[in-house]
Amino acid sequence: MKIRIVEPVIEDDDINNVVEVLKSKWLVHGPVVEEFERKFADYIGVKHALAVMNGTVALYLILSALDIGQGDEVIVPDFTFIATANTVLMRGAKPVFADIELETYNIDPDDVLEKITNKTKAIIAVHLYGHPANMKDLLEIAEDYKLYVIEDAAQAHGAEIHGVKVGSIGHAAAFSFYATKNMTTGEGGMITTNTEWIASKIKLLRDHGQEAKYYHVTLGGNYRMTAMQAALGISQLKKLDKLNNARIRNAEYLISNLRDVTSIKLPKVKPGYKHVWHQFVIWVKDEHPLGRDKLAEELHRRGIQTAIHYPRPVHLQPLYRALGYPSNICPRSIEASKHVLSIPVHPLLTQRELDYIIETIRELS
Ligand SMILES: Cc1ncc(COP(=O)(O)O)c(C=O)c1O
Repeated sequence: MKIRIVEPVIEDDDINNVVEVLKSKWLVHGPVVEEFERKFADYIGVKHALAVMNGTVALYLILSALDIGQGDEVIVPDFTFIATANTVLMRGAKPVFADIELETYNIDPDDVLEKITNKTKAIIAVHLYGHPANMKDLLEIAEDYKLYVIEDAAQAHGAEIHGVKVGSIGHAAAFSFYATKNMTTGEGGMITTNTEWIASKIKLLRDHGQEAKYYHVTLGGNYRMTAMQAALGISQLKKLDKLNNARIRNAEYLISNLRDVTSIKLPKVKPGYKHVWHQFVIWVKDEHPLGRDKLAEELHRRGIQTAIHYPRPVHLQPLYRALGYPSNICPRSIEASKHVLSIPVHPLLTQRELDYIIETIRELS
């Protein structure tokens, strides 16, 4: 058996949609991209959705639209994919790392409070692994200190808090449609917001600051999405709920059949939150007979691919060490990087594969 940690779901309708666009010969921004934007905005429940090249560009453009740059600080979780922090650096601003809650691995609002200075302009809340961050507390802090809250929803398409979709809660949100995400356009990204001026600014910035044909009012670039990506996005969006439900079913099955394995800690869902299980992440306890790395190795030998999201907290990446960030600033993030292990949960897993994963983990734990 060979069970992969991720597998994009590409079906006939996805292929046909892309082929149709190719046949139409309208390959760049136009009606298909606009249709994808409209449908995505409706799905998330926001006024504006703006398609861009990828999730990194989505974050970068949000920060640009909010005028965040030199001299500003942005609080980001230390335990995330590096793009969250790097887009702040790309703007010439300073990422300030906050530690995480170990229950969800998301940014800890109490630590955010500790990290606020008079230079802080925004907080980026990552909905890590598909579990929403604590937006209520973050928005309260933001209100008190007059900060923006940017959602990094790259891993959380369709996740909700009390029935409200992530991507519609902060001032603006960034989604990624990278090949491993819950829905994909190969590479791709989307910005969602309810704020008119943010949307207008981003429209300009993603298209050379062009207000009218060859009339450029500000410095922008080419960050647009192609029509082929959008065509794939439209068919992927149609099946997103079905794919997320399959992830949820798989996660619930894994949880109910691994519940009594005491040497691992299973992921939890906070009451009122909808987790979309981009990753199913177990915490391999110190008392585990093999330990995290050996367990991963043995699972791999038995045909089960795993991954570590993430093996190194962002502040300990060589890039940030070289920039002079001290080590040890976020101890819970460091602990998480030593214990977490992502196991397959993707929608294409069969019952036999799920049972095999469970049996194998039980045998090794
Ligand atoms: C949390 C997070 N933020 C940002 C990104 C960047 O997205 P992209 O790879 O589309 O640039 C990713 C995905 O890779 C991510 O997981």
